[in-house]
Amino acid sequence: MCGIVAYIGAQKAYPIVIKGLQRLEYRGYDSAGIALQNGSLNVFKKKGKVADLIEFTKGKNINGNIGMGHTRWATHGKPDDINAHPHTSGNGRLVLIHNGIIENYALLKSSLTNLGHTFKSETDTEVLVHLIEEVQQAEDLPLEEAVRQALTQVHGAYAIVVMDSKDPHKLVAARKSSPLVIGVGDNEFLIASDATPIVEHTKNVVYLNDEEVATVTLDGEMLIKTLKNEVTNPAIHEIELQIEQLEKGGYDYFMLKEIFEQPTTIAECMRGRMDADEGWVRLGGMAEHLKRMVNAQRMIILGCGTSWHAGMIAEYLFEDLARLPVEVEYASEFRYRNPVVRDQDVVLAISQSGETADTYAALELAKQHGALTYGIVNVVGSSIARLTDCGSYIHVGPEIGVASTKAFTGQVTMLTMMALILGYERGYLPKSKYQKLVQALSLIPGKVDALLKNCHQQVRYIAGEFKDASNALYLGRGYNFPVALEGALKLKEISYIHAEGYPAAEMKHGPIALIDENMPVFVIATNKSAYEKIVSNIQEVKARKGVVIAVVTEGDESIKQLADHSIEIPETEEPFTPLLSVVPLQLLAYHIAVMRGCNVDQPRNLAKSVTVE
Ligand code: G6P
Repeated sequence: MCGIVAYIGAQKAYPIVIKGLQRLEYRGYDSAGIALQNGSLNVFKKKGKVADLIEFTKGKNINGNIGMGHTRWATHGKPDDINAHPHTSGNGRLVLIHNGIIENYALLKSSLTNLGHTFKSETDTEVLVHLIEEVQQAEDLPLEEAVRQALTQVHGAYAIVVMDSKDPHKLVAARKSSPLVIGVGDNEFLIASDATPIVEHTKNVVYLNDEEVATVTLDGEMLIKTLKNEVTNPAIHEIELQIEQLEKGGYDYFMLKEIFEQPTTIAECMRGRMDADEGWVRLGGMAEHLKRMVNAQRMIILGCGTSWHAGMIAEYLFEDLARLPVEVEYASEFRYRNPVVRDQDVVLAISQSGETADTYAALELAKQHGALTYGIVNVVGSSIARLTDCGSYIHVGPEIGVASTKAFTGQVTMLTMMALILGYERGYLPKSKYQKLVQALSLIPGKVDALLKNCHQQVRYIAGEFKDASNALYLGRGYNFPVALEGALKLKEISYIHAEGYPAAEMKHGPIALIDENMPVFVIATNKSAYEKIVSNIQEVKARKGVVIAVVTEGDESIKQLADHSIEIPETEEPFTPLLSVVPLQLLAYHIAVMRGCNVDQPRNLAKSVTVE
């Protein structure tokens, strides 16, 4: 959370930094700020979005070819102009932007206060810039050395960039547990939380490692040292991101674009990994460790938010198709629970961003216990991707809408491919069944395409009918229980309607008390197994005057008779139904949120990449 971007080079910094901030706004959007070096140091900060900052800087001195900017998701201190970054040192000489949390800030603040420092904001970040100033002044150190020494006193997570008005030809950056990428251009550098602000300037990047401090200068020099003062030799990577992937491409919101990209992104996830005609699936990430994965005694799956829901679907997939015992864990609970992890376990971490702090820390714990760790990640080169022993990228392209859509179907596609491989290799899927399933999976992108075309108008109409609801219930069984959770999450996060997902049978143990003619009950009723049971659950809702919107398999006339509305999805093998049934629920949440006047891509209080714990 929080996005940081900085530029040093021959061009004007302001437009580059502002555009970078707009690209990073998905990471936080409660306030924004910019600092520019142009003979003197000019700092502008404003509560609100980057657009408010742009308005605020109109007519001001925004010159300079060194600059840095920040878009905030508040942790310490409310969102306002003062708590916004950049923060300035007491003597006004240093400015700093920060993503992360300085955990020992209170202790540092009190010792700095004893030394005469006074603070303007409530943030942990301001403490850090004062600490660097203190270290710098004590021994008259160059900026990079002051930053390095100060960071040895800091506990917590940080990605920072610092500027010194008395040493105006350089930027110093450092990271620990928060992401930071350095774009290496022609005598210019960009530093950012991810590659999206960098890609239009250069494709060459260095991923800064934990506890490294980088110094980049106006004459094109870059030096990276560890906190222990050892010089490192950074590898330069080439990024594959295309600029068009970062634009809305004619859609009103990124979320809608991303929903409609799913036929392509699911196919991209499968590309080169499956052959329907020959009937095989292969994942490069699994090849090297196949024996260990096939013989695993247990699979532990870690994730947060939507990625956790994908993990829940994987529990059904791995147990059903590969007879492999699975435990799905919220990463935040797992890491603090003293969990039992053995070296015969395989630990899967699912993360779109590859930066979620809890998932990262839970994975570190699993590694310490000797388990094989496997990452299912979207963002190439991200921290989780680099921490795991092996893994597979889902390759769905940048996901910018805060509510995850195409990353979810990419994750589920990847998990399905893994389950098919393990089912076959463990001897539970006979070759004929395995090949039949591979063939059926290869048809999913086309089915998602047809579904989007067929259901869009109908879903928009249903959205209109229920946009004013205060509560909603989502029910599903088996493979579609996690889809119920995901449907409810989508609705609450972007439309602010309270929504709950439940296993359909559990309704009797509580939510049934809430049912009345005002609360829509969305039932994902595509199951072949337990079909009669879900029909009974619908009847139980109807008997209490509930309003049922059912997601059904094409041609299902019985549920159509019972439900108030039914949305048809194409027929497929039961384990693959989540890849289809989730699509109308994504569209429904989207349209309800738009009709309620909500900012779909940037819902209140949320952020896309949660780099705090
Ligand atoms: C945030 C996002 C969600 C996402 C979750 C986990 O809450 O808003 O969309 O599912 O973090 O993120 P990850 O990047 O680890 O998948």
